Amino acid sequence: MGRLDVRVRTHLDSTVCYLAREDTLEERVTIRELSLSGALVVGLSTQLSELFAIRPVLPGTGEVELLAKLVRQGKGGSAIRLYYSDQNTMQALWEHIRDHLPPTSSCPYCGHPDDSREGSCDNCNLYLNFSKKNYLERHIENTFAQRLNIRLSRLNLEHIQKIIHFVDSKLLKIQHRSPDREFIGTSPGMLTVFSMLRKVAPTEMSVLLLGESGTGKEVTARSLHTLSGRRDGPFVAVNCAAIPETLLEAELFGYEKGAFTGAYATKKGKFESADGGTLFLDEIGDLPATLQAKLLRFLEDRLVQPVGSALSKKIDVRIVAATNCDLQLSMAQGRFRTDLFYRLNSFTIKLPPLRERGDDKVRLATYFLEKFSRNENRFMEFSEEALEAIRRHPWPGNVRELENKVRRGFLMASGRVIDPECMELDQVDPAVVPDPEPKPASAQRDYVIKVLEQNGYVIAKAARQMQISRPSMYALIKKHGISRDDMK
Ligand SMILES: Nc1ncnc2c1ncn2[C@@H]1O[C@H](COP(=O)(O)OP(=O)(O)O)[C@@H](O)[C@H]1O
Ligand SMILES: [Mg+2]
Repeated sequence: MGRLDVRVRTHLDSTVCYLAREDTLEERVTIRELSLSGALVVGLSTQLSELFAIRPVLPGTGEVELLAKLVRQGKGGSAIRLYYSDQNTMQALWEHIRDHLPPTSSCPYCGHPDDSREGSCDNCNLYLNFSKKNYLERHIENTFAQRLNIRLSRLNLEHIQKIIHFVDSKLLKIQHRSPDREFIGTSPGMLTVFSMLRKVAPTEMSVLLLGESGTGKEVTARSLHTLSGRRDGPFVAVNCAAIPETLLEAELFGYEKGAFTGAYATKKGKFESADGGTLFLDEIGDLPATLQAKLLRFLEDRLVQPVGSALSKKIDVRIVAATNCDLQLSMAQGRFRTDLFYRLNSFTIKLPPLRERGDDKVRLATYFLEKFSRNENRFMEFSEEALEAIRRHPWPGNVRELENKVRRGFLMASGRVIDPECMELDQVDPAVVPDPEPKPASAQRDYVIKVLEQNGYVIAKAARQMQISRPSMYALIKKHGISRDDMK
C-alpha cells in the first residue's frame, strides 16, 4: 500500500511562533516538502517538545495558521506533523499541494504508472479526480478506515476499551445498554437487570425489587416508571418503614375530614396521588399486617377506601415494591402474608450487591466524580491507586457508600487528583494527617468556607452537608487555618 497523503516539493516562507513561551519567539522558516499531515521545514533552530504555530504564506491565499509538532530533526531539516483547527485552512493547503503535483501521469499515492487521473487508481484504489471541488472531502472519507487502522495497530487492549467507552458515552451518548443514562452498569449481573427491566416495564405487572440497601432499588423503580406507558403520570415513592404505623394507613389511603382527631380536612393518600402513574412502596417488609391486607385487596380489585370514608375509589396505579429483608423468613415467622407475597412476586428483579459487579465499581465512581465536578465546576480525577482501592474495597454499604466516598474524595483532595486516602479507603482520615508537603489547597479552603457560610457557621450542620464527621470538620478548619475572622 502507498501513502494516504500526497507529498509535494514546495518553497513556502513561513513564520513559526512558540505558543508556550513567555517571549513568544518568532522565527522565519521555509517549508520544503508538504503534505496535509506533515511537512519538512528548514530553518527551525530550536528543539521543541510542545505544540507550536506555523504560518505559511500561500500564494493567492495569504498567510494561514496551523498547529504543528516536531517529529524529528535531521540534517535535511525538521519533520513536523500538522494539525488543523478549521476546514478552510485545510482546503487552502490542499489546493496548494494539488497545484504543485509533478506533471507525471503516475498515481501520486502509490507510484503506479499510466494513470489517467480520473476516477480511481487501478492499483491502490484511491480516488484521483483532483480537479473535483469536493476532492479533499471524498479522499478523507475514503481513507478514514485506513487512517484509523494505522493508529489502532499501535494501541493495546486497555487503550481500545477506553476509546470504546469514550465513543459510546461521549460521542454516541450510549450508556452501555443501560435503560437510562443515569443508571450505570455493564457487569453481567446488571445487564440481566436491564434486560428484565426492559421486558417488564411496558407491562402492567406489579414488580418486586430485592437487594441489599443501596443497590439501586429506587433507581430501578424510577426506570421502570420511565420506561412504561405511565411515564407521563406521577411517580410516588413511600418508605413504609419511615412512617409510624398509626399514620401509615392515612398516608397511603388518605382520609375524610373528621375521620380522626386532627383530620381537619379531607386528604388524598399516596395511592390517589399516584393515580395514572406508579406507586413505589419501599421497605414493603415493614408494612403492618392490617395494611398488608388492604394492599392485597387493592391488588385484587384496584379500589382504595380512605380512612373514615364509606366509599371506595377506583385508582389506576402500578405497584412497584422493594425490600432488603428476607421475605421468606418474614413469611415463616408469620410477619408477612404469603398471599401478598405471591401477588407481588409474580415478577421479581434482584439487584446484585456492588461487590459482585466487577468493573462497574470504577464506572460508577467515575460517573459520580463527573457529576460532582460538573455541579461544582471543579474538575478532578482519580489517581491509579485510588482506582485500584475502589476495585479492591468490599463495599458493604453498596452504591450509596461508593457515592459518599467519592464525594468525600472530591472535597478532601488538595489538588486535582484524588488519592485513596482522600476517600478514607485505607481507614486514614486525611483531615487529621498533616500534609508532608503542603499543596495548593485554596479550592478546598474556599469550599470549606462556602459550606460554613451556607450553614450559618454551625460546624455540625456544615459537617453533615459535607458528609464528614465533626472532628474531621474541625481538622479541616485547622488544616486550612480558617480563623474566626474568616468565619466572622
Ligand atoms: N446503577 C446505578 N447507577 C447510578 N447510580 C446508582 C446506581 N445504583 C445506585 N445508585 C445511586 O446510589 C444511591 C442509592 O440507590 P437507591 O436506589 O436509593 O438504593 P436502594 O433503594 O436499593 O437503597 C442513590 O443515590 C442512587 O442514585
Ligand atoms: Mg432505598
